[in-house]
Amino acid sequence: MDNSAPLKIQRDPLASLMGDAASMQSFQEFYASTNDLMSCYRCAIMEIETKFRVLDERFSLVHDRNPIDNIQSRLKKPQSIYEKLMRKQLPITIKSVENNLFDVAGVRVVCSFVDDIYMLADCLLQQDDITLIKRKDYIQNPKENGYRSLHLIVEVPIFLQNEKKLMKVEVQLRTIAMEFWANLEHQLRYKKELSPQIIAQTSERLQECARLSSVLDSQMQDIKDMIENA
Ligand code: GTP
Ligand code: MG
Repeated sequence: MDNSAPLKIQRDPLASLMGDAASMQSFQEFYASTNDLMSCYRCAIMEIETKFRVLDERFSLVHDRNPIDNIQSRLKKPQSIYEKLMRKQLPITIKSVENNLFDVAGVRVVCSFVDDIYMLADCLLQQDDITLIKRKDYIQNPKENGYRSLHLIVEVPIFLQNEKKLMKVEVQLRTIAMEFWANLEHQLRYKKELSPQIIAQTSERLQECARLSSVLDSQMQDIKDMIENA
């Protein structure tokens, strides 16, 4: 993802979404005020990414393997932020974004094994500059559709020229199997109009795939444990 690319206002979808000129002006005013905030979120992403890279490096030194397969980051676009504020009937201000939206900055950490997820989450949360705001364990308690991942909302300080600022970041930790399932489920969910019957049938099959992916995760974990303890 290229965060440095200039953000373009997509006029047509926005116009249809917001309808009138007043709303368009409201968005443009909001958009013009987001530059500094978006930069702060980019800094927060860098901080969190570095923390995970450091943990991966130190773990690999001792255990001779990398717990992290890959890290992906994303920054919500001002347009999506605006739409979410509108949807939730929240004030359209920078303060409101910081106080109410916790998923503007997102870091996804894809791990090899389930145990690595909890180990990395614990290591991150032990750090004295990190504050846990919210934890949702969809591995222990998968969503009804079968979705699994560990979600953390954390607050991390960023150090600017003359100021320290606390920023919220959504961290999603998951295994390769969980990532595979979530990506495909997301792709399919956003496909063209589907009949209720097809939706019901595919939901069941997706749930079954989620169950299989969880069996795969626990078997791979067991095999790793056996090999390490041999
Ligand atoms: P939002 O306001 O949409 O962020 O909802 P929430 O605060 O209840 O967040 P939740 O922790 O449930 O999910 C946030 C993110 O997790 C989403 O933006 C997705 O990236 C991911 N996620 C959650 N549920 C699903 C799901 O069923 N399928 C897939 N593919 N991803 C999901
Ligand atoms: Mg979200």
